[in-house]
Amino acid sequence: LTPRAEEQSNDSQELISSLPKVKNWDDLYLYHYQGTWYHSRCINGVISFQNNFQAEDSDVILATFPKSGTTWLKALTFAIVHRSRYPLEKSPLLTSSPHDLVPFLEFDLYMKSPFPSFEHIPTPRILSTHMPCGSLPKSILNSNCRVVYMCRNPMDQFISHWTFYHGLGDQTSDPLPLEEAFEMICQGVQSYGPIWTQILDYWNASKAQPGKILFLKYEDLMKGDIVSYVKQIAEFLGCPFSESEETQGVVEEISKLCSFDNMKNLEVNKSGKQPGGAKNDTFFRKGIVGDWKNYLTPAMSERLEKLMEEKLHGSGLTF
Ligand code: A3P
Repeated sequence: LTPRAEEQSNDSQELISSLPKVKNWDDLYLYHYQGTWYHSRCINGVISFQNNFQAEDSDVILATFPKSGTTWLKALTFAIVHRSRYPLEKSPLLTSSPHDLVPFLEFDLYMKSPFPSFEHIPTPRILSTHMPCGSLPKSILNSNCRVVYMCRNPMDQFISHWTFYHGLGDQTSDPLPLEEAFEMICQGVQSYGPIWTQILDYWNASKAQPGKILFLKYEDLMKGDIVSYVKQIAEFLGCPFSESEETQGVVEEISKLCSFDNMKNLEVNKSGKQPGGAKNDTFFRKGIVGDWKNYLTPAMSERLEKLMEEKLHGSGLTF
């Protein structure tokens, strides 16, 4: 580490040791920082990212709550934004995980160093984060870069996350029983939670700055016409499809390339691991809406539904 990086790292350690913490589902700690619970694995990266990231006007920031379709959004955005650079039949998405092509800022980049290199990332840079809007580095909020946000029905999000912990396979102990993990999320205690705070934060910001933040729901893309969302994302990012691209079926090709069945069955997504240890195939589980019905009792789902209604009351947002 350079002296500057070392100094920052010491400051972060001091800050982290002063934060309230609780045990997470996986027996590691969650730290409470600026109103959000951050996993001990990434809290360092969160602070370095906040302190040091310099956004460029052309940057595309993909913000998501964990397990809300990040992998899908990364694939779609990469295919849309870089379609001139890489023809679809030679897309890097066929041979690389979407997570290798679109790195997480607070994990892949800033966890390693407070001053990571971005040289390997093609322009416009597509970068991703799970952080809430209000905690993003100022340069993201103050520059002309654009943010695409995606969230998901909190019950499906919970089941997706809980099963993901089971599938990680590198945990030192079994994750908490479902009931106890559920109790924690109802208290707002989960990685990047409370979920309602983050969703509302981006919802309100997207209303205030519709040209800056595009707000998407996983369910809308799943149930709706994916082609129209692909076009919407392209328009929002300032790279709309030309008439000739539309006639040639490019929008449909991108939708197909990034579909759950296609991505799940690519060799690269069936094998290999992320640097953090998660196997690539754990990012493709069922890819459906409503799987929570197979896990939550009616009392549990009613409780979370009610809680979300209360928290989102008056926002115009429903799940
Ligand atoms: P399930 O666990 O419910 O199957 P993230 O990418 O944010 O980690 O979210 C993972 C969730 O998105 C998983 O949900 C996964 O199956 C689903 N997913 C991954 N790729 C997808 C795709 N191309 N289309 C739809 N859903 C996808």
